[in-house]
Amino acid sequence: ASNAMWGGRFAAGPDAIMEAINASIDFDKRMAAQDIRGSRAHAAMLAAQGIITDSDAEAIREGLLTVLSEIEGGNFPFSKALEDIHMNVEARLKDLIGEPAGRLHTGRSRNDQVATDFKLWVRDQMDAAIEGIEALIRALLAQAEAGADWVMPGFTHLQTAQPVTWGHHMMAYVEMFGRDMSRFRDARARMNESPLGAAALAGTSFPIDRHMTAEALGFDRPAANSLDAVADRDFALEFLSCATICAMHLSRFAEELVIWSSAQFRFVVLSDRFSTGSSIMPQKKNPDAAELIRAKIGRIMGAMVGLFTVMKGLPLTYSKDMQEDKEQVFDAADSLMLSLAAMTGMVSDMTANRPALEAAAASGFSTATDLADWLVRELNMPFRDAHHVTGTLVAMAEKKGCDLPDLSLEEMQSVHAAINASVFDVLGVHNSVASRQSYGGTAPDQVRLQIGRWKELLG
Ligand code: ARG
Repeated sequence: ASNAMWGGRFAAGPDAIMEAINASIDFDKRMAAQDIRGSRAHAAMLAAQGIITDSDAEAIREGLLTVLSEIEGGNFPFSKALEDIHMNVEARLKDLIGEPAGRLHTGRSRNDQVATDFKLWVRDQMDAAIEGIEALIRALLAQAEAGADWVMPGFTHLQTAQPVTWGHHMMAYVEMFGRDMSRFRDARARMNESPLGAAALAGTSFPIDRHMTAEALGFDRPAANSLDAVADRDFALEFLSCATICAMHLSRFAEELVIWSSAQFRFVVLSDRFSTGSSIMPQKKNPDAAELIRAKIGRIMGAMVGLFTVMKGLPLTYSKDMQEDKEQVFDAADSLMLSLAAMTGMVSDMTANRPALEAAAASGFSTATDLADWLVRELNMPFRDAHHVTGTLVAMAEKKGCDLPDLSLEEMQSVHAAINASVFDVLGVHNSVASRQSYGGTAPDQVRLQIGRWKELLG
């Protein structure tokens, strides 16, 4: 049998393999609510414009609600022969209300319909991402506030560099995730134009009102070019790009949590709720959630690269290639939302090991820069000379197997005679961080300033 929707010019139905490669219903049924919302807006507009009667529009709009409740109730007869969500819904509507169902597709095509459905779906995910990121930022702010003045080592090359504060480190991620949030907001504002009414590609001869449907669906305006409206998947690519950057940030943070929770670092204790055990090694508590978050960028970025590869080189306007857009975006969205939720849970639950952080902060000659700065400030030494003197002192301490503050004044004076006892003030990690008062620096006052700014921003 040939297709009920487009079978007019066909004598034979599709091969089973053709049906298998062509059908998208197995995945695009996730857009059922968006499809029905778009169709209800379209029907109301057709009636308002006198293109169909009010009673037909009423039957269509009511019938679509029935279809929606069938789908939500899990008793909808999805059919592969009907290819996709659009034709499944319309065919069921016809079963339910008869002839008026055939008037719904007036002045519309599946090309503008699928673009509309998918935009509505992606827009919801952008909102969900913004919400998920905000929750994570709030969890980070709570950690930062609790430990605004706890010292820990700051690293470059994963080697001890200078002491910083726990709060400062948490706030670094607040900045990163804050940019992610604003990227999703920007993308959402840019994508919020309605494709509905672009029809197949050229617009329609029916006197439709695209402004009315755009408004009903929460779009800011109708898309201005019908060819672009059905050919555009930038919104999905932008979603995936924003998601990829966010997943990269999540992955970096996850990596730090994996390192920090190891027996060698012991910087944090992750909660039992976000850890797992080993079936053979009884002592194990593994940071599986962090490891999985570290990995999720693989599939999220994979989806981004995948969809760019689908879209590149496609001539205007719609091509069936574009049906390959959805599974990638669905999977990336699921992966991102789950990662954000898991990271938020881990951050809320984790306990910083303050003594371990402080001990690590003081090791590794972390205040060598403070010593060099002291020589410049107090002895008016050129920085390059101060760097050299400090390096000599570090080598001396290393040879002795101690840290810089453990050297005696006499030992220091053997390297440079003018050094006096006040040098020991700058060798302590608390003085070190407190002195970093430059804007955006690690001094607890500066950290608290930024915490306050973010709290105000989030309200
Ligand atoms: N299932 C299709 C998709 O996901 C819907 C649009 C089909 N349009 C068409 N002209 N065949 O892209």
